[in-house]
Amino acid sequence: MSRLGRLFGFLCLWLPHLQCEGFSYTQPEQVHLSYPGDPTTMMVTWTTFGPAESIVEFGPDPGEAFTRSARGDATRFVDGGKLKHTMFIHRVTLQALVPGQRYAYRCGSEQGWSRSYGFWALLNGTSWSPRFAIFGDMGLENPQSLPRLQQEAEMGLFDVVLHVGDFAYDLDTDNSYVGDAFMRKIEPVAALVPYMTCPGNHEEKYNFSNYRFRFNMPGDTESLWYSWDIGPAHIISFSTEVYFFLKYGQQLVAEQFQWLEKDLQEANQPERRKERPWIITMGHRPMYCSNNDQDDCTLYESIIRRGLDPQQFGLEDLFYKYGVDLALWAHEHSYERLWPVYDYKVCNGSTDAPYTNPCAPVHIITGSAGCRERLDPFVPDPREWSAVRIEDYGYTHMQIMNRTHVWLEQVSDDQSGKVVDGIWLIKELHGPEAWH
Ligand SMILES: *[C@@H]1O[C@H](CO)[C@@H](O)[C@H](O)[C@H]1NC(C)=O
Ligand SMILES: *[C@@H]1O[C@H](CO)[C@@H](O)[C@H](O)[C@H]1NC(C)=O
Ligand SMILES: *[C@@H]1O[C@H](CO)[C@@H](O)[C@H](O)[C@H]1NC(C)=O
Ligand SMILES: *[C@@H]1O[C@H](CO)[C@@H](O)[C@H](O)[C@H]1NC(C)=O
Repeated sequence: MSRLGRLFGFLCLWLPHLQCEGFSYTQPEQVHLSYPGDPTTMMVTWTTFGPAESIVEFGPDPGEAFTRSARGDATRFVDGGKLKHTMFIHRVTLQALVPGQRYAYRCGSEQGWSRSYGFWALLNGTSWSPRFAIFGDMGLENPQSLPRLQQEAEMGLFDVVLHVGDFAYDLDTDNSYVGDAFMRKIEPVAALVPYMTCPGNHEEKYNFSNYRFRFNMPGDTESLWYSWDIGPAHIISFSTEVYFFLKYGQQLVAEQFQWLEKDLQEANQPERRKERPWIITMGHRPMYCSNNDQDDCTLYESIIRRGLDPQQFGLEDLFYKYGVDLALWAHEHSYERLWPVYDYKVCNGSTDAPYTNPCAPVHIITGSAGCRERLDPFVPDPREWSAVRIEDYGYTHMQIMNRTHVWLEQVSDDQSGKVVDGIWLIKELHGPEAWH
């Protein structure tokens, strides 16, 4: 954008009587979807740099495009940096969608529309097999896996993205301009399938404000911790960062922990666990890892695992108690799969079939989507809980086949999309009773 254009933009922002309608500052950008948790709904979020209405036009695809329209609202967000970079973050919830139906949509207002995109409303009920792309730690610079993810999203190879923290490096850098550029860059994926997130350490600046404003996850905790159901799974997203940035409020650790316990209790009500036997968590910093980067889980005891001194709010016992099946992490820029593990002890289902009826959660660390910090090396001799370690750029595919089977595989972007690891996680018994 020219300097004059930018100047005009700032004037438009601060002096609304200039009447800047029609100027590109009301042109929508950074379009992305998130799933509110009900298959008849989908949330569309986008950004403009001047005030504008928040409208989504949509309709069945193929069909007579844009037969319906929905309205939402916008929040004015001011980045914490010196320039006080200001934007309007619009969100609109589409309702009364038909599960499984494909829709075309565009967002914006009469002062500017986005290009048109399409998505499938997620299926209803528990008898289908949702597919995910999972990764963490993707930057504006060197997002190596992104073209492959875009291609797969366009081909409809996954229903949902789970981005397990660390976006852009960092959303707030350069007065949020890096965040803007990153959100534009992921649009070809995030405008097609729900892009579900949790915060990472790189979102920390200004109390995670860029993260809290730019993403709109289910629930009312500003996307910091929330849960949702899909097919036969209950998925819980949480912030590992509340344990590290205590300056933003130590009470957040307790608040989140209490919420987690309540959510896990509800998910374990016998009727619910029968319907949705898989409980899957996602959080940024892992409890276990074997990377050689002076980091949380190799050099010292994981705070996430054990909790704050003296052992308060540790998550391993909580997850074990409530029978979490699978814990997804990132932060380490590599891929590591663990044998089922609790308290450093491997708890294989059996030696022949370690992931069939395991007696502890299975952990996957997948933080190698690509960023400017490149890859993280491993320590030479991992402990016995480490099953597979891969130092390639890539991401994870997960398919929750049904109530008893989950397929997990690692895609290497370095090796042209080759699947370099894959396991079936199988549970014939469900819930904590399976291992207590
Ligand atoms: C989704 O499934 C539930 C439970 O089977 C049912 O009550 C509900 O009506 C369904 N909703 C739609 C939109 O099909
Ligand atoms: C940081 O943000 C969280 C979530 O909005 C809030 O609860 C907390 O009070 C904030 N902390 C500070 C120091 O402003
Ligand atoms: C768990 O299973 C794997 C695969 O069979 C095996 O290599 C490993 O030694 C087992 N660990 C324990 C503690 O039984
Ligand atoms: C679940 O999926 C697995 C793998 O596709 C299949 O072998 C198994 O028969 C399925 N179970 C049921 C109950 O459909």
